[in-house]
Amino acid sequence: MRFKTPKLSLISLLTIINIITRVHSQSTTSANCTAELLTINSQSELDALSSCVTLSGSINFGRDIVNATINGIQTIRGALRVTYGAKVQRLIAPDLSFVGGILQISGALNLTVLSMPSLANVGSLRFEYLPRLRTVEFSSQIDSLGDDTAIQLVVWDTAIESLADIIYRKVESVQIIENPNMVEVDLPIRNITGVFVVRDNGNDTRVSLPYLGTVGYVHMGANVGEVNLPNLTAVETDVRITSDYLRRIELPGLVNIGTEKVATTTRRASLEINRSKNLTAVSFPKLEWIMSDLRINGSEGWTELGGFPVLGSVGDDVVIDGDFENINLPNLRPGDGESRFWINSPQVDCAALLREPIFTEGGWRTNVTCNGGLYDLSPEEETKETKKSLSGGAIGGIAVGAVAAVGGALILFFVCFRRRRVDLPKILELEDGGISKRKVAELPEAKPVAELEDPETSVAPELEGSIPLAELEASSSPNQRRAPEHEVSIPKPPLEQK
Ligand SMILES: *[C@@H]1O[C@H](CO)[C@@H](O)[C@H](O)[C@H]1NC(C)=O
Ligand SMILES: *[C@@H]1O[C@H](CO)[C@@H](O)[C@H](O)[C@H]1NC(C)=O
Ligand SMILES: *[C@@H]1O[C@H](CO)[C@@H](O)[C@H](O)[C@H]1NC(C)=O
Ligand SMILES: *[C@@H]1O[C@H](CO)[C@@H](O)[C@H](O)[C@H]1NC(C)=O
Ligand SMILES: *[C@@H]1O[C@H](CO)[C@@H](O)[C@H](O)[C@H]1NC(C)=O
Ligand SMILES: *[C@@H]1O[C@H](CO)[C@@H](O)[C@H](O)[C@H]1NC(C)=O
Ligand SMILES: *[C@@H]1O[C@H](CO)[C@@H](O)[C@H](O)[C@H]1NC(C)=O
Ligand SMILES: *[C@@H]1O[C@H](CO)[C@@H](O)[C@H](O)[C@H]1NC(C)=O
Ligand SMILES: *[C@@H]1O[C@H](CO)[C@@H](O)[C@H](O)[C@H]1NC(C)=O
Ligand SMILES: *[C@@H]1O[C@H](CO)[C@@H](O)[C@H](O)[C@H]1NC(C)=O
Repeated sequence: MRFKTPKLSLISLLTIINIITRVHSQSTTSANCTAELLTINSQSELDALSSCVTLSGSINFGRDIVNATINGIQTIRGALRVTYGAKVQRLIAPDLSFVGGILQISGALNLTVLSMPSLANVGSLRFEYLPRLRTVEFSSQIDSLGDDTAIQLVVWDTAIESLADIIYRKVESVQIIENPNMVEVDLPIRNITGVFVVRDNGNDTRVSLPYLGTVGYVHMGANVGEVNLPNLTAVETDVRITSDYLRRIELPGLVNIGTEKVATTTRRASLEINRSKNLTAVSFPKLEWIMSDLRINGSEGWTELGGFPVLGSVGDDVVIDGDFENINLPNLRPGDGESRFWINSPQVDCAALLREPIFTEGGWRTNVTCNGGLYDLSPEEETKETKKSLSGGAIGGIAVGAVAAVGGALILFFVCFRRRRVDLPKILELEDGGISKRKVAELPEAKPVAELEDPETSVAPELEGSIPLAELEASSSPNQRRAPEHEVSIPKPPLEQK
């Protein structure tokens, strides 16, 4: 019996401490082997372990083994990993029913068969860069042990078609990304404490998690065509929706986005709908509050912005860009006084909109920018506003001044801009062991961490975005007539900048 050890260790880590009993025919007694980490490179090494019904330790498959059958072993208390670049084509474990740690298969380019028909409990699952693996045979269905929360369910850049046999109920992080053959993400998960990302899978992917109640962060990205999350009531941080396939998004049970009504410097939670050209309607019938921002970038066919009948509070900014004719946020009332309300939607009649209860009731202290005009809604300013009437020249002067000021502010903003930290719920990407490094080099975007950084990095494109430009454009449009009728302070671009 010969065991290879990891390259890093100089002395063998392998210590088979005890072999309690041998397997007797028909009996349930079992051999119990202990080893910290076994690196397997041949079938004979695997066969040598076949008397170990329980292995207290971990197994790594090295690069050389091509067809591997794990006979005998039922329980692996540690992890089961396949080294990046492994030649393995078939990995079969007929008896294996329990893996306490992670089952990680990354970068096995020729793997076509993964069959573990008895596997019932796995601490977490990570399948990455498996371009030939279409099916996973987990016929007994996989869950975590008892009430444990699985650390991760990551399926990234594989040919896998279905996750039907994975029945985790609680997971920290779920990332289903870049699996072109997957058109259905249907999981019985009830609770995701960290990120939940589905993007760049098969065209028109249907996402259905009928039992999901709470989640840390949601991103329904490219190619998602349908989202069914009927039992989702709360999201701890952001909800991002960015898919051209979506025609309608409905989150019927969602009550709040964020943990508290008011954002703090370290905790933010926004609803962002963007890059969804085919979206024509949204429905958030129970959404009461959003801790940070409501950011909506609409599309041509989406003319009525409604679907938020009970939304009462947005902690920071409301940013609405699009072709909306009507904006109907009937219950929305001022945030904390620091927030901005920014609208760029040429069809909207700003004057009429500003007469809606959303702006006339409740002492809104936030200045509103509507199609380039800045409207001061401070209660004490309201009277002045009606009295004052400036000549066209003065208005022009102010507008030019405002434009210059915006430019100045922008430059300042660029100079001073620093990234803000966004606290996401604890997400464990720790089990990587560096295995995905090569993959990252080959696939520049396939870095799970990027997803975590998303809320930060997405700030940068916004700087290039047309918020300030829109402001400039709008000030030369007819809407200028409704532009400031009093001294204008610099309208800060509605970027996340606290
Ligand atoms: C195997 O050994 C481990 C560690 O010594 C022990 O915790 C476990 O209960 C044993 N299992 C069996 C089936 O004997
Ligand atoms: C692996 O299994 C496949 C299918 O049974 C077989 O065609 C192939 O020759 C095997 N390769 C090795 C190296 O054993
Ligand atoms: C995968 O298989 C091809 C031939 O089918 C072979 O050329 C290549 O080296 C294999 N790659 C690995 C990592 O085993
Ligand atoms: C989800 O899990 C978290 C952390 O374990 C827990 O605090 C929360 O109450 C759970 N939510 C539900 C709906 O079970
Ligand atoms: C998805 O749609 C795009 C554009 O319509 C097409 O080019 C691509 O081949 C489709 N992908 C799949 C996996 O069907
Ligand atoms: C919905 O979630 C609640 C807890 O938030 C749970 O009690 C209820 O059973 C769930 N309903 C379904 C259909 O999963
Ligand atoms: C968007 O809708 C148009 C018109 O219905 C359709 O032709 C197009 O394929 C849709 N795009 C996507 C990505 O679904
Ligand atoms: C939408 O995405 C674009 C990049 O595609 C970005 O520039 C813009 O700021 C985003 N808008 C919102 C409202 O998030
Ligand atoms: C909306 O999206 C367009 C392009 O997709 C982008 O140019 C614009 O800056 C976005 N608007 C906002 C407010 O982010
Ligand atoms: C709103 O504008 C007025 C003057 O137009 C300015 O004094 C005030 O500080 C602005 N309020 C906010 C919250 O930006």
